[in-house]
Amino acid sequence: MSRLVVISNRVAVPKARGAAGAQGGLAGALNAALKKHSGIWFGWSGEDVPEFTGETSEQTFEGVTTVTMDLAKQDIDEYYNGYANATLWPLFHYRLDLAEYEQETAKGYERVNERFAECVAPMVEEDDLIWVHDYHLIPLGERLRARGIENRIGFFLHIPWPATRLFVSLPYHERLVRTMLRYDLVGFQTAEWLESFMHYCEKELGAEVDEETGCITFEGRRTIARAYPIGIDYEHFMSHEAGSDAREAEQRLVTSTRDRTAMIGVDRLDYSKGIPERIDGIGRFFDKYPECVRDLVFIQIAPPSREDVESYQQIRAELEQKTGEINGARSEVDLVPIRYVNRGYSQAELFGFYRAAKIGLVTPLRDGMNLVAKEYVAAQDPDDPGILILSQFAGAALQLKDAILVNPHSPDDLARAINQALEMPLKERKERHQKMLVSVRDENVQEWTENFRRDLAKVSQYA
Ligand code: F6P
Repeated sequence: MSRLVVISNRVAVPKARGAAGAQGGLAGALNAALKKHSGIWFGWSGEDVPEFTGETSEQTFEGVTTVTMDLAKQDIDEYYNGYANATLWPLFHYRLDLAEYEQETAKGYERVNERFAECVAPMVEEDDLIWVHDYHLIPLGERLRARGIENRIGFFLHIPWPATRLFVSLPYHERLVRTMLRYDLVGFQTAEWLESFMHYCEKELGAEVDEETGCITFEGRRTIARAYPIGIDYEHFMSHEAGSDAREAEQRLVTSTRDRTAMIGVDRLDYSKGIPERIDGIGRFFDKYPECVRDLVFIQIAPPSREDVESYQQIRAELEQKTGEINGARSEVDLVPIRYVNRGYSQAELFGFYRAAKIGLVTPLRDGMNLVAKEYVAAQDPDDPGILILSQFAGAALQLKDAILVNPHSPDDLARAINQALEMPLKERKERHQKMLVSVRDENVQEWTENFRRDLAKVSQYA
Protein backbone atom coordinates (compact mmCIF):
# COMPACT_ATOMS: atom_id res chain seq x y z
CA MET A 1 0.00 0.00 0.00
CA SER A 2 1.26 3.49 -0.86
CA ARG A 3 2.65 5.70 1.88
CA LEU A 4 0.50 8.64 2.90
CA VAL A 5 2.13 12.08 3.02
CA VAL A 6 -0.26 14.35 4.90
CA ILE A 7 0.35 18.09 4.91
CA SER A 8 -1.55 20.59 7.04
CA ASN A 9 -0.77 23.91 8.64
CA ARG A 10 -0.84 22.48 12.14
CA VAL A 11 0.23 19.06 13.30
CA ALA A 12 -0.76 17.36 16.55
CA VAL A 13 2.51 17.16 18.46
CA PRO A 14 2.57 18.03 22.13
CA LYS A 15 5.02 20.86 21.67
CA ALA A 16 3.14 22.64 18.86
CA ARG A 17 1.49 25.87 19.94
CA GLY A 18 -2.28 25.41 20.21
CA ALA A 19 -1.96 21.63 20.52
CA ALA A 20 -3.84 21.61 23.79
CA GLY A 21 -7.45 22.54 24.02
CA ALA A 22 -8.07 24.65 20.96
CA GLN A 23 -7.02 22.54 18.04
CA GLY A 24 -10.36 21.89 16.36
CA GLY A 25 -11.35 18.74 14.52
CA LEU A 26 -8.63 18.61 11.90
CA ALA A 27 -5.67 17.61 14.05
CA GLY A 28 -7.54 14.78 15.76
CA ALA A 29 -8.83 13.47 12.44
CA LEU A 30 -5.41 13.42 10.81
CA ASN A 31 -3.85 11.80 13.83
CA ALA A 32 -6.36 8.98 13.48
CA ALA A 33 -5.71 8.72 9.72
CA LEU A 34 -1.98 8.41 10.21
CA LYS A 35 -2.18 5.87 13.00
CA LYS A 36 -3.62 3.50 10.42
CA HIS A 37 -1.35 4.22 7.47
CA SER A 38 2.37 4.36 7.23
CA GLY A 39 3.58 7.75 6.22
CA ILE A 40 4.48 11.19 7.47
CA TRP A 41 2.62 14.26 8.58
CA PHE A 42 4.19 17.57 7.70
CA GLY A 43 3.30 21.01 9.04
CA TRP A 44 4.31 24.17 10.82
CA SER A 45 5.80 23.66 14.28
CA GLY A 46 3.80 26.53 15.76
CA GLU A 47 7.13 28.29 16.52
CA ASP A 48 8.54 31.47 15.03
CA VAL A 49 12.18 32.14 14.26
CA PRO A 50 13.88 35.39 13.19
CA GLU A 51 14.49 34.00 9.70
CA PHE A 52 13.19 31.02 7.77
CA THR A 53 15.92 28.38 7.40
CA GLY A 54 14.14 25.48 5.73
CA GLU A 55 15.36 23.15 8.48
CA THR A 56 12.92 20.46 9.53
CA SER A 57 12.67 18.36 12.64
CA GLU A 58 11.18 14.91 12.92
CA GLN A 59 9.48 13.26 15.86
CA THR A 60 7.37 10.20 16.45
CA PHE A 61 4.54 10.51 18.93
CA GLU A 62 2.08 7.70 19.66
CA GLY A 63 3.09 5.89 16.46
CA VAL A 64 2.72 8.90 14.15
CA THR A 65 5.78 10.46 12.52
CA THR A 66 5.52 14.20 12.14
CA VAL A 67 7.98 16.51 10.46
CA THR A 68 7.77 20.21 11.21
CA MET A 69 9.37 23.45 10.13
CA ASP A 70 9.56 26.78 11.94
CA LEU A 71 8.32 29.92 10.21
CA ALA A 72 9.59 33.49 10.37
CA LYS A 73 7.52 36.00 12.34
CA GLN A 74 6.67 37.89 9.14
CA ASP A 75 5.51 34.63 7.53
CA ILE A 76 3.15 33.94 10.41
CA ASP A 77 1.77 37.47 10.37
CA GLU A 78 1.09 37.48 6.65
CA TYR A 79 0.21 33.87 5.96
CA TYR A 80 -1.50 32.63 9.14
CA ASN A 81 -2.83 35.74 10.90
CA GLY A 82 -3.22 37.59 7.60
CA TYR A 83 -4.37 35.84 4.46
CA ALA A 84 -5.53 32.54 5.98
CA ASN A 85 -7.36 33.91 9.02
CA ALA A 86 -8.22 37.51 8.16
CA THR A 87 -9.09 36.93 4.48
CA LEU A 88 -10.02 33.36 3.58
CA TRP A 89 -11.51 32.27 6.90
CA PRO A 90 -14.07 35.13 7.17
CA LEU A 91 -14.87 35.02 3.46
CA PHE A 92 -15.39 31.25 3.44
CA HIS A 93 -17.61 31.60 6.51
CA TYR A 94 -19.77 34.18 4.73
CA ARG A 95 -18.40 37.12 6.78
CA LEU A 96 -17.51 39.49 4.00
CA ASP A 97 -17.74 42.33 6.53
CA LEU A 98 -14.68 40.91 8.34
CA ALA A 99 -12.61 39.89 5.32
CA GLU A 100 -9.45 41.96 4.69
CA TYR A 101 -8.00 42.10 1.20
CA GLU A 102 -4.33 43.07 1.43
CA GLN A 103 -1.76 42.42 -1.30
CA GLU A 104 1.05 42.00 1.21
CA THR A 105 -0.65 39.18 3.08
CA ALA A 106 -1.62 37.52 -0.21
CA LYS A 107 2.06 37.53 -1.16
CA GLY A 108 3.01 36.12 2.23
CA TYR A 109 0.48 33.32 1.71
CA GLU A 110 2.06 32.40 -1.62
CA ARG A 111 5.54 32.62 -0.12
CA VAL A 112 4.74 30.29 2.76
CA ASN A 113 3.06 27.80 0.43
CA GLU A 114 6.31 27.82 -1.52
CA ARG A 115 8.20 27.18 1.73
CA PHE A 116 5.96 24.18 2.42
CA ALA A 117 6.70 22.87 -1.09
CA GLU A 118 10.45 23.44 -0.65
CA CYS A 119 10.51 21.37 2.55
CA VAL A 120 8.09 18.63 1.49
CA ALA A 121 9.28 17.94 -2.08
CA PRO A 122 12.56 16.19 -1.06
CA MET A 123 10.64 13.83 1.25
CA VAL A 124 8.28 12.54 -1.43
CA GLU A 125 8.87 9.00 -2.72
CA GLU A 126 7.67 7.68 -6.05
CA ASP A 127 4.53 5.88 -4.97
CA ASP A 128 3.38 8.22 -2.18
CA LEU A 129 -0.14 9.54 -2.05
CA ILE A 130 0.00 13.20 -1.04
CA TRP A 131 -2.94 14.63 0.90
CA VAL A 132 -3.02 18.39 1.51
CA HIS A 133 -5.43 19.91 4.04
CA ASP A 134 -7.37 23.10 4.40
CA TYR A 135 -7.52 26.71 3.35
CA HIS A 136 -4.00 27.57 4.51
CA LEU A 137 -2.50 25.45 1.75
CA ILE A 138 -4.72 25.74 -1.32
CA PRO A 139 -1.84 26.59 -3.73
CA LEU A 140 0.48 23.90 -2.37
CA GLY A 141 -0.45 21.27 -4.99
CA GLU A 142 0.49 23.64 -7.79
CA ARG A 143 3.76 24.52 -6.02
CA LEU A 144 4.62 20.82 -5.74
CA ARG A 145 3.78 20.26 -9.41
CA ALA A 146 6.12 23.15 -10.27
CA ARG A 147 8.87 21.16 -8.52
CA GLY A 148 8.22 18.18 -10.75
CA ILE A 149 6.12 16.12 -8.32
CA GLU A 150 3.87 13.89 -10.41
CA ASN A 151 2.38 11.81 -7.62
CA ARG A 152 -1.33 11.74 -7.04
CA ILE A 153 -2.16 14.75 -4.90
CA GLY A 154 -5.46 15.26 -3.11
CA PHE A 155 -6.81 18.28 -1.26
CA PHE A 156 -9.47 18.41 1.44
CA LEU A 157 -11.18 21.60 2.55
CA HIS A 158 -12.31 21.40 6.19
CA ILE A 159 -14.33 24.61 6.05
CA PRO A 160 -17.25 25.73 3.84
CA TRP A 161 -16.78 26.82 0.25
CA PRO A 162 -18.61 30.13 -0.23
CA ALA A 163 -21.35 30.89 -2.72
CA THR A 164 -19.98 32.20 -6.03
CA ARG A 165 -21.45 35.69 -5.51
CA LEU A 166 -19.40 36.05 -2.33
CA PHE A 167 -16.28 34.32 -3.55
CA VAL A 168 -15.81 36.65 -6.52
CA SER A 169 -15.18 39.51 -4.07
CA LEU A 170 -11.75 37.98 -3.46
CA PRO A 171 -9.09 39.64 -5.61
CA TYR A 172 -7.39 36.95 -7.73
CA HIS A 173 -10.19 34.47 -6.98
CA GLU A 174 -9.58 32.84 -10.34
CA ARG A 175 -5.95 32.20 -9.55
CA LEU A 176 -6.87 30.43 -6.31
CA VAL A 177 -9.32 28.10 -8.04
CA ARG A 178 -6.90 27.40 -10.87
CA THR A 179 -4.44 26.13 -8.27
CA MET A 180 -7.16 23.86 -6.86
CA LEU A 181 -7.56 22.32 -10.27
CA ARG A 182 -3.95 21.13 -10.17
CA TYR A 183 -4.99 18.51 -7.62
CA ASP A 184 -6.22 15.11 -8.76
CA LEU A 185 -8.92 14.91 -6.14
CA VAL A 186 -10.59 17.74 -4.22
CA GLY A 187 -12.81 16.93 -1.23
CA PHE A 188 -15.43 19.00 0.60
CA GLN A 189 -17.35 18.34 3.79
CA THR A 190 -20.82 18.48 2.26
CA ALA A 191 -22.68 18.43 -1.05
CA GLU A 192 -23.56 22.10 -0.47
CA TRP A 193 -19.95 23.31 -0.49
CA LEU A 194 -19.17 20.98 -3.38
CA GLU A 195 -22.03 22.45 -5.43
CA SER A 196 -20.81 26.00 -4.77
CA PHE A 197 -17.33 25.06 -5.96
CA MET A 198 -18.63 23.36 -9.11
CA HIS A 199 -20.88 26.34 -9.79
CA TYR A 200 -17.87 28.65 -9.67
CA CYS A 201 -15.80 26.38 -11.93
CA GLU A 202 -18.54 26.23 -14.52
CA LYS A 203 -19.88 29.77 -14.46
CA GLU A 204 -16.78 31.83 -13.73
CA LEU A 205 -13.95 29.71 -15.06
CA GLY A 206 -15.76 28.13 -17.98
CA ALA A 207 -14.65 24.62 -16.95
CA GLU A 208 -16.56 21.57 -18.09
CA VAL A 209 -18.33 20.10 -15.08
CA ASP A 210 -19.93 16.68 -14.86
CA GLU A 211 -22.02 16.80 -11.70
CA GLU A 212 -22.69 13.09 -11.68
CA THR A 213 -19.07 11.92 -11.64
CA GLY A 214 -17.64 15.07 -10.05
CA CYS A 215 -15.24 15.41 -12.95
CA ILE A 216 -14.07 18.95 -13.74
CA THR A 217 -12.18 19.38 -17.00
CA PHE A 218 -10.18 22.55 -17.40
CA GLU A 219 -7.39 23.37 -19.84
CA GLY A 220 -6.93 19.72 -20.73
CA ARG A 221 -6.63 18.46 -17.10
CA ARG A 222 -9.16 16.59 -15.05
CA THR A 223 -9.87 16.94 -11.34
CA ILE A 224 -12.42 14.93 -9.42
CA ALA A 225 -14.42 16.88 -6.80
CA ARG A 226 -16.51 15.05 -4.19
CA ALA A 227 -18.05 15.40 -0.75
CA TYR A 228 -16.50 13.39 2.11
CA PRO A 229 -18.20 14.25 5.42
CA ILE A 230 -15.65 13.91 8.20
CA GLY A 231 -16.46 11.97 11.38
CA ILE A 232 -14.98 11.42 14.83
CA ASP A 233 -12.60 8.68 15.92
CA TYR A 234 -15.53 6.89 17.53
CA GLU A 235 -13.72 4.01 19.17
CA HIS A 236 -11.03 6.21 20.63
CA PHE A 237 -13.59 8.72 21.86
CA MET A 238 -15.67 5.98 23.48
CA SER A 239 -12.59 4.62 25.24
CA HIS A 240 -13.00 7.57 27.65
CA GLU A 241 -16.34 6.20 28.84
CA ALA A 242 -14.82 3.89 31.42
CA GLY A 243 -11.91 6.16 32.30
CA SER A 244 -11.57 8.05 35.55
CA ASP A 245 -10.95 11.45 33.94
CA ALA A 246 -14.31 11.42 32.17
CA ARG A 247 -16.15 10.09 35.21
CA GLU A 248 -14.62 12.67 37.52
CA ALA A 249 -15.45 15.46 35.06
CA GLU A 250 -19.04 14.24 34.78
CA GLN A 251 -19.36 14.08 38.54
CA ARG A 252 -17.87 17.53 38.91
CA LEU A 253 -20.52 19.02 36.69
CA VAL A 254 -23.39 17.01 38.18
CA THR A 255 -22.40 17.99 41.72
CA SER A 256 -21.90 21.65 40.92
CA THR A 257 -25.18 22.02 39.00
CA ARG A 258 -27.17 20.02 41.59
CA ASP A 259 -30.83 19.81 40.52
CA ARG A 260 -30.50 22.30 37.68
CA THR A 261 -30.44 21.14 34.03
CA ALA A 262 -26.98 21.68 32.57
CA MET A 263 -26.75 22.95 29.02
CA ILE A 264 -23.30 23.04 27.36
CA GLY A 265 -21.49 24.71 24.47
CA VAL A 266 -17.89 23.89 23.52
CA ASP A 267 -16.23 25.92 20.78
CA ARG A 268 -12.97 27.55 19.82
CA LEU A 269 -13.53 31.24 20.53
CA ASP A 270 -14.41 32.12 16.94
CA TYR A 271 -17.08 34.43 15.49
CA SER A 272 -18.20 31.67 13.11
CA LYS A 273 -19.38 29.61 16.08
CA GLY A 274 -22.27 31.96 16.87
CA ILE A 275 -21.54 32.20 20.61
CA PRO A 276 -22.84 35.77 21.20
CA GLU A 277 -25.96 34.88 19.18
CA ARG A 278 -26.35 31.78 21.36
CA ILE A 279 -26.14 33.89 24.51
CA ASP A 280 -28.81 36.19 23.04
CA GLY A 281 -31.01 33.13 22.49
CA ILE A 282 -30.53 32.08 26.10
CA GLY A 283 -31.35 35.62 27.21
CA ARG A 284 -34.53 35.47 25.12
CA PHE A 285 -35.43 32.13 26.72
CA PHE A 286 -35.07 33.62 30.19
CA ASP A 287 -37.16 36.63 29.12
CA LYS A 288 -39.93 34.31 27.99
CA TYR A 289 -39.67 31.84 30.85
CA PRO A 290 -38.26 33.79 33.84
CA GLU A 291 -39.31 30.97 36.20
CA CYS A 292 -36.68 28.74 34.48
CA VAL A 293 -33.69 30.79 35.66
CA ARG A 294 -33.48 28.57 38.72
CA ASP A 295 -33.78 25.36 36.67
CA LEU A 296 -31.18 25.84 33.98
CA VAL A 297 -27.47 26.57 33.89
CA PHE A 298 -25.49 27.17 30.70
CA ILE A 299 -21.82 26.28 30.59
CA GLN A 300 -19.86 27.76 27.69
CA ILE A 301 -16.33 26.44 27.25
CA ALA A 302 -14.47 28.65 24.77
CA PRO A 303 -10.68 28.33 24.58
CA PRO A 304 -9.12 31.43 22.98
CA SER A 305 -8.00 31.05 19.39
CA ARG A 306 -5.99 33.13 16.85
CA GLU A 307 -5.49 35.82 19.42
CA ASP A 308 -3.30 38.00 17.19
CA VAL A 309 -6.13 38.56 14.73
CA GLU A 310 -8.22 41.65 15.52
CA SER A 311 -11.64 40.14 14.81
CA TYR A 312 -10.87 37.45 17.40
CA GLN A 313 -10.00 40.06 20.00
CA GLN A 314 -13.31 41.76 19.25
CA ILE A 315 -15.40 38.63 19.56
CA ARG A 316 -13.78 37.88 22.89
CA ALA A 317 -14.61 41.33 24.23
CA GLU A 318 -18.17 41.10 22.89
CA LEU A 319 -18.71 37.76 24.55
CA GLU A 320 -17.38 38.92 27.89
CA GLN A 321 -19.74 41.86 27.77
CA LYS A 322 -22.81 39.83 26.81
CA THR A 323 -22.19 37.15 29.42
CA GLY A 324 -21.65 39.85 32.03
CA GLU A 325 -24.91 41.58 31.09
CA ILE A 326 -27.06 38.46 31.37
CA ASN A 327 -25.38 37.30 34.55
CA GLY A 328 -25.66 40.78 36.03
CA ALA A 329 -29.36 40.93 35.29
CA ARG A 330 -30.28 37.35 36.19
CA SER A 331 -27.93 36.17 38.93
CA GLU A 332 -28.93 35.65 42.55
CA VAL A 333 -26.56 35.37 45.50
CA ASP A 334 -26.65 31.61 45.15
CA LEU A 335 -27.03 31.27 41.37
CA VAL A 336 -25.31 32.32 38.14
CA PRO A 337 -27.14 31.40 34.90
CA ILE A 338 -24.10 31.38 32.58
CA ARG A 339 -20.66 29.94 33.36
CA TYR A 340 -18.23 31.20 30.78
CA VAL A 341 -14.94 29.33 30.80
CA ASN A 342 -12.07 30.69 28.74
CA ARG A 343 -9.88 27.59 28.59
CA GLY A 344 -9.59 24.20 26.94
CA TYR A 345 -10.07 20.73 28.47
CA SER A 346 -8.82 17.29 27.52
CA GLN A 347 -11.04 15.13 25.34
CA ALA A 348 -11.69 12.79 28.29
CA GLU A 349 -12.91 15.67 30.47
CA LEU A 350 -15.10 16.93 27.64
CA PHE A 351 -16.61 13.45 27.36
CA GLY A 352 -17.64 13.72 31.02
CA PHE A 353 -19.01 17.26 30.64
CA TYR A 354 -21.03 16.30 27.54
CA ARG A 355 -22.51 13.35 29.39
CA ALA A 356 -23.52 15.45 32.36
CA ALA A 357 -25.17 18.10 30.18
CA LYS A 358 -28.77 17.35 29.23
CA ILE A 359 -28.70 19.82 26.35
CA GLY A 360 -25.83 20.36 23.89
CA LEU A 361 -25.90 23.70 22.09
CA VAL A 362 -23.96 23.67 18.81
CA THR A 363 -25.10 26.73 16.92
CA PRO A 364 -22.44 28.01 14.50
CA LEU A 365 -23.48 30.65 11.98
CA ARG A 366 -21.58 28.63 9.39
CA ASP A 367 -19.39 25.57 9.88
CA GLY A 368 -17.71 23.09 7.53
CA MET A 369 -18.82 20.12 9.65
CA ASN A 370 -18.57 20.55 13.46
CA LEU A 371 -17.32 17.54 15.35
CA VAL A 372 -18.43 18.82 18.77
CA ALA A 373 -21.98 17.95 17.67
CA LYS A 374 -20.91 14.38 16.92
CA GLU A 375 -18.92 14.02 20.14
CA TYR A 376 -21.87 15.29 22.17
CA VAL A 377 -24.10 12.58 20.67
CA ALA A 378 -21.49 9.86 21.22
CA ALA A 379 -20.99 10.78 24.88
CA GLN A 380 -24.67 10.45 25.87
CA ASP A 381 -26.05 7.70 28.07
CA PRO A 382 -28.35 5.78 25.65
CA ASP A 383 -30.85 5.11 28.46
CA ASP A 384 -31.21 8.78 29.35
CA PRO A 385 -29.68 10.79 26.51
CA GLY A 386 -29.33 14.54 26.33
CA ILE A 387 -30.63 16.53 23.36
CA LEU A 388 -28.58 18.17 20.68
CA ILE A 389 -29.65 21.61 19.48
CA LEU A 390 -27.84 22.07 16.19
CA SER A 391 -27.51 24.92 13.71
CA GLN A 392 -28.99 24.26 10.31
CA PHE A 393 -25.86 25.94 8.90
CA ALA A 394 -23.38 23.39 10.25
CA GLY A 395 -22.29 20.67 7.81
CA ALA A 396 -23.20 18.15 10.53
CA ALA A 397 -26.90 19.07 10.19
CA LEU A 398 -27.07 17.06 6.96
CA GLN A 399 -26.26 13.89 8.89
CA LEU A 400 -27.73 14.67 12.31
CA LYS A 401 -31.26 15.38 11.16
CA ASP A 402 -32.71 14.14 14.46
CA ALA A 403 -31.18 16.97 16.43
CA ILE A 404 -33.42 19.97 17.10
CA LEU A 405 -32.36 22.09 14.14
CA VAL A 406 -32.29 25.85 14.61
CA ASN A 407 -31.58 29.09 12.84
CA PRO A 408 -28.71 30.41 15.00
CA HIS A 409 -29.36 34.01 13.93
CA SER A 410 -32.79 34.00 15.54
CA PRO A 411 -32.96 34.40 19.35
CA ASP A 412 -36.62 33.39 19.22
CA ASP A 413 -35.82 30.17 17.40
CA LEU A 414 -33.08 29.35 19.91
CA ALA A 415 -35.44 30.04 22.81
CA ARG A 416 -38.07 27.82 21.17
CA ALA A 417 -35.53 25.01 20.74
CA ILE A 418 -34.40 25.18 24.38
CA ASN A 419 -37.99 24.97 25.50
CA GLN A 420 -38.66 22.02 23.17
CA ALA A 421 -35.58 20.23 24.54
CA LEU A 422 -36.67 20.75 28.14
CA GLU A 423 -40.12 19.36 27.43
CA MET A 424 -39.11 16.40 25.27
CA PRO A 425 -40.27 13.05 26.67
CA LEU A 426 -37.70 10.32 27.32
CA LYS A 427 -39.07 8.08 24.56
CA GLU A 428 -38.54 10.75 21.89
CA ARG A 429 -35.11 11.61 23.27
CA LYS A 430 -34.05 7.97 23.02
CA GLU A 431 -35.41 7.56 19.48
CA ARG A 432 -33.67 10.67 18.22
CA HIS A 433 -30.42 9.77 19.96
CA GLN A 434 -30.41 6.23 18.61
CA LYS A 435 -30.70 7.41 15.01
CA MET A 436 -27.95 10.01 15.41
CA LEU A 437 -25.67 7.55 17.16
CA VAL A 438 -25.76 5.18 14.19
CA SER A 439 -24.52 7.96 11.92
CA VAL A 440 -21.83 9.12 14.38
CA ARG A 441 -20.60 5.57 14.95
CA ASP A 442 -20.63 4.41 11.32
CA GLU A 443 -19.67 7.57 9.43
CA ASN A 444 -16.50 7.89 11.47
CA VAL A 445 -13.06 9.27 10.76
CA GLN A 446 -11.67 5.91 9.64
CA GLU A 447 -14.42 5.71 7.00
CA TRP A 448 -13.62 9.24 5.90
CA THR A 449 -9.92 8.50 5.55
CA GLU A 450 -10.53 5.25 3.71
CA ASN A 451 -12.98 6.81 1.27
CA PHE A 452 -10.68 9.68 0.39
CA ARG A 453 -7.53 7.54 0.26
CA ARG A 454 -9.21 4.90 -1.91
CA ASP A 455 -10.50 7.49 -4.40
CA LEU A 456 -7.13 9.21 -4.53
CA ALA A 457 -5.34 5.91 -5.12
CA LYS A 458 -7.51 5.05 -8.10
CA VAL A 459 -7.73 8.54 -9.50
CA SER A 460 -5.45 7.77 -12.44
CA GLN A 461 -8.38 5.83 -13.83
CA TYR A 462 -10.16 9.14 -14.31
CA ALA A 463 -7.34 11.51 -15.21
O1 F6P B 1 -10.95 23.04 11.04
C1 F6P B 1 -10.53 24.29 10.65
C2 F6P B 1 -9.25 24.70 11.34
O2 F6P B 1 -8.84 25.93 10.83
C3 F6P B 1 -8.13 23.75 11.19
O3 F6P B 1 -7.43 23.88 9.98
C4 F6P B 1 -7.32 24.12 12.39
O4 F6P B 1 -6.39 23.20 12.78
C5 F6P B 1 -8.38 24.35 13.44
O5 F6P B 1 -9.45 24.88 12.73
C6 F6P B 1 -7.93 25.24 14.59
O6 F6P B 1 -7.49 26.48 14.13
P1 F6P B 1 -6.00 27.01 14.36
O7 F6P B 1 -5.07 25.99 13.78
O8 F6P B 1 -5.95 28.32 13.66
O9 F6P B 1 -5.83 27.14 15.83
